[in-house]
Amino acid sequence: MSTTTIDLQQAAKDHLWMHFTRMGGYQKADVPIIVRGDGCYLEDVNGKRYLDALAGLFSVNIGYSFGEEIGQAALEQMRELPFYTNWSYAHPKAIELAAEVASLAPGDLNRAFFCSGGSEAVESAWKLARQYYAARGGKAIADAGTEPQTRHDGQVAANASGPHRYKAIARNIAYHGTTMGALSINGIPALREPFEPLVPEVRHVSNTNRYHRPPEETEVEFTRFLLQELEQTIVSMGPETVCLVHMEPVQNAGGAFTPPAGYWQGVREICDRYDILLSADEVITAFGRVGYWFGSERYDIRPDLVTCAKGLSSSYASIGAVVATDRVMEPFLAQTSMFSHGITFGGHPTMCAIALKNIEIMKREGIVEHVRANESAFADTLAQLLDLPIVGDVRGTGFFYALELVKDRETRESFSEEECERLLRGYLSNALFDAGIICRADDRGDPVIQISPPLVAGQAEFDEIVRILGEVLTGAVALMR
Ligand SMILES: Cc1ncc(COP(=O)(O)O)c(C=O)c1O
Repeated sequence: MSTTTIDLQQAAKDHLWMHFTRMGGYQKADVPIIVRGDGCYLEDVNGKRYLDALAGLFSVNIGYSFGEEIGQAALEQMRELPFYTNWSYAHPKAIELAAEVASLAPGDLNRAFFCSGGSEAVESAWKLARQYYAARGGKAIADAGTEPQTRHDGQVAANASGPHRYKAIARNIAYHGTTMGALSINGIPALREPFEPLVPEVRHVSNTNRYHRPPEETEVEFTRFLLQELEQTIVSMGPETVCLVHMEPVQNAGGAFTPPAGYWQGVREICDRYDILLSADEVITAFGRVGYWFGSERYDIRPDLVTCAKGLSSSYASIGAVVATDRVMEPFLAQTSMFSHGITFGGHPTMCAIALKNIEIMKREGIVEHVRANESAFADTLAQLLDLPIVGDVRGTGFFYALELVKDRETRESFSEEECERLLRGYLSNALFDAGIICRADDRGDPVIQISPPLVAGQAEFDEIVRILGEVLTGAVALMR
């Protein structure tokens, strides 16, 4: 070990507080320290290489090899204007990025409000939805655009013509971030509990996990069940108090739950019926992960709001956005109306320059087309893992997949909490890392391994993912016998 390694290790143990990390586990063990990346690979401080099958955090969409080019764009922006704000002012890069995002987003999602990441985007979307109804003065969506009745005090208060809409609906096990608003929208009880009481008031409905539904249930019946439950939940909350339905096109936590046919059309119809804003959380799915610039396009979701972050800059910058339709913007265009919300770093020029360069690279390299062209090869390669008795399900779409691990494939019985602890934290997390692959063993829902490589991955990486996972999971079968 070099001196630098020893110093970094000690300083990491003494001073760095890692996120969602059991720090006690590193009192004896080494902190994993990643020092460089190229393509789909990372290298640690000891020179060991890893295939990053998680693309950082579902986010380094162009892979790790564009640092020079993106760094040059950042440098040029730094020389010109290292910082200015979006509070009352614009600057070229925020304007250009907003226009670029509007051109890529489907339908009339034409207005971008920039922030620093996914949690802030979700937080901002909920706040925007709360203020939207107040700004609109209680008018129905259909005529909100023609004659907006805007409140002039900028305060969030009861609508002129009805109760204040402030409640939100999300789905069980869904992850939407960690700030108090975004956390309240989360459907993961273990993440919520330490911080209760949370922001009023969110209810959670079923997600689109079909693996544990009754085997005789058809897809049509499943969709009907989900939509009925959503509608009943809205009714029981008081539809006139609900401002937001917030869901991912493909839900990550719990393991890449794709929607059944007709689901999104039904959700859209219900939101229209009760005049509720539909927000698509595309923090993961936007910018190519599911083979389209936006998952909303793939599933024809027609959301009123989209939250995005990670892939917007391929995580080369800390930037996120809420993208709103013209209709949502309309009441805020009245002379004295404003969205009473802002963040110092929202629309930071250097972050915008990086995001713009990322999108330019994605277009030039045909990244979204590459995902579409290779998604079936990826799915077919991953399906080889179904030969292992511990792999119950391989699900997902695009370059966004999960393997569900089961105790019994016939009955689809899951592992107990104690078994999950032994399997995931006691064995898999370390075994995968030791074997040279980074992917996530996760039990926020049923135990899954999440696989979400950079969007530049090809057959060689798919094969390596399956080879390493095959070896490690064979060890898991022996362990859990
Ligand atoms: C769907 C979704 N929403 C929101 C977030 C929060 O994003 P961030 O970690 O950038 O705050 C995440 C993060 O993984 C996410 O996956």
